[in-house]
Amino acid sequence: MPTTAPATSLTLDTARCLSTAVQNHGLDPDVLAQDGPAARATVELTQRLEESRGTGWERWRMLAEGAMREDHVKAVKAIAAEYQGKLDNVVVLGIGGSALGNIALQSALNPLTHNLSTDRTHPRLFVLDNADPIPFHQTLAFITSEDPKFDRTLFVVISKSGETAETAAQFLVVRDMLQKARGDGHADRLIAVTDPEKGTMRRLCDAAGYETLPVPEGVGGRFSALSPVGLISCALCGIAIDELLDGAAAMEQACRHEALHANPAAMLATVLVELGQRQGKTVHVMMPYANQLYLMADWWRQLWAESLGKIVPSGGADGTHAGFTPVKALGATDQHSQVQLYREGPNDKAIIFLEVEKLATDVAIPAGLGEEALAYLEGSSLATLLSAEKKATEFALTESRRPNLTIKFPQVTAHTVGQFMMLWQVATAYAGLMLGVDAYDQPAVELGKKATFALMGKPGFEELAARLRS
Ligand code: PA5
Repeated sequence: MPTTAPATSLTLDTARCLSTAVQNHGLDPDVLAQDGPAARATVELTQRLEESRGTGWERWRMLAEGAMREDHVKAVKAIAAEYQGKLDNVVVLGIGGSALGNIALQSALNPLTHNLSTDRTHPRLFVLDNADPIPFHQTLAFITSEDPKFDRTLFVVISKSGETAETAAQFLVVRDMLQKARGDGHADRLIAVTDPEKGTMRRLCDAAGYETLPVPEGVGGRFSALSPVGLISCALCGIAIDELLDGAAAMEQACRHEALHANPAAMLATVLVELGQRQGKTVHVMMPYANQLYLMADWWRQLWAESLGKIVPSGGADGTHAGFTPVKALGATDQHSQVQLYREGPNDKAIIFLEVEKLATDVAIPAGLGEEALAYLEGSSLATLLSAEKKATEFALTESRRPNLTIKFPQVTAHTVGQFMMLWQVATAYAGLMLGVDAYDQPAVELGKKATFALMGKPGFEELAARLRS
C-alpha cells in the first residue's frame, strides 16, 4: 500500500509489515484499515499536534516556512555571500544535534570527494564532533600546513547552550590558535550558532564581536538541522538551502493531514510503534541502498533514540521504559555482514529500507570478457545490481517473516532530503505521543553532561564529583 503525500515525492511502502506478508510477525491489516483504530487515533493525535504546532518545543515545525524561514535564510545567505570565494576550509565545532545534521546533509548532497577536489568554488567541510584529540589535531595540522594564518579558514562553533564540554573545549583551543595567528583581528574567522539571547557562548560572542546566527527558541538540538544549525554549512558549501526547506515545507504540510493513509509521518510512526509494542520489534534498522544516505541514518538514530528512549511517566511507580534501538546498516555492504543476523537471529527487528529510484550516476558494466560465470553481469550496470540486491534482501527478509518497509526517494536532491528530515521529525512527534513520553527532553544526556562537569572540576558540581569518585 504505497502512500504518496500530496506535493511530496517520497513514498512509503509498509505492505511488508502486515501479517499478509510476514504472518504472525506482522500487523493485522485491520489495525491500519481506513476506518480502523490507528486511523481513529491519527485524527486525535493530529489535532493535538496541530494545537501544539509552532509552540513550546514544537517551534521546529515552523522552520521551513513563514517568518522564521525568511529570517534564517536571509541571515545564512548573508554570511555565505560575505565569505564567497574567500574560503578553502569550513570547520564546524559541535556535537550531537549540533553536528549530526551538518554531517548528514553534507554527505547526502555533496560528492564523496567534495573535500578532495581541487576546485575550491566551495570550501571543504570538516565537522569535529568529538573530544578525541586525534582527529581534532590531524584536521588542524592539515589546515595549518596549508593555511597557517587561517586566511582561508572559517570556524563555525555550534552550541545552543554554549556549555557543552566537548564543544567548549574545542572552542577554547581554536580561539587561542586564532588569536595567536591573527591577533585581535581574529573575530572574522569564527562565527557562532547559539542561543540568540542567553548562555555562555552568547556572552562570549557579544564580548569578542563574533558574528552569530540563532539556534531558535523552542528548537532542540536533534530538531535543529533545518535551522541555521544545519543551514550554514550547507550554504557555505554550495547546497541549495531553499530547495531543502521547500521539501521540508511540503512534507510538513502533508503531515498535517488527519487521514492516516494521507499522512506519511502518522503512518510511519503507527507502523513502527505498533510493531514495537504488539510484535516486539524493538530494534529498528535503517538500511539505505545508497551510500549518500548512510550518514542520514546517524542523524536519524539520534532523533529516534534520544526522543523516544524514556521512562514513561504514567507507567506506575517504577515507570515503564519506552523506546526503540535504532541501528544503521548499508545496502548492499551489510548483506555481507548483518543480514545473516537479520534473517535468522532474534525476530525483534523492523527493517527500514531507503531506496533511490534514480541514482545521480550509473556505471555500465562492460561486456566482452566471455567468462560464463560472470556473463549475467555483463551489459548491466552497478545501479541495476544495487537495485536487484535491495529487492533480493527485501524478499529474503519477508520470506523469513521479518517485517520491513521502504521509503523511496525518486532521486537524492535537496528537496527530497528536506522531505525526509521533516518526515522523521514529525513521525517522532507522533511516536512520542503514542508512547506517552516527552519527545523533547533528554534527562539522561543532561546527567552525563553534569557528571562530565563534575569530573572536570567545574565549580558547583562538587557533590556529584564526590559521588563519582566514591
Ligand atoms: O539533541 C540534543 O539536545 C543534544 O544532542 C545536543 O544537541 C548536544 O548535546 C549539544 O548541545 P549544545 O548544542 O547545547 O552544545
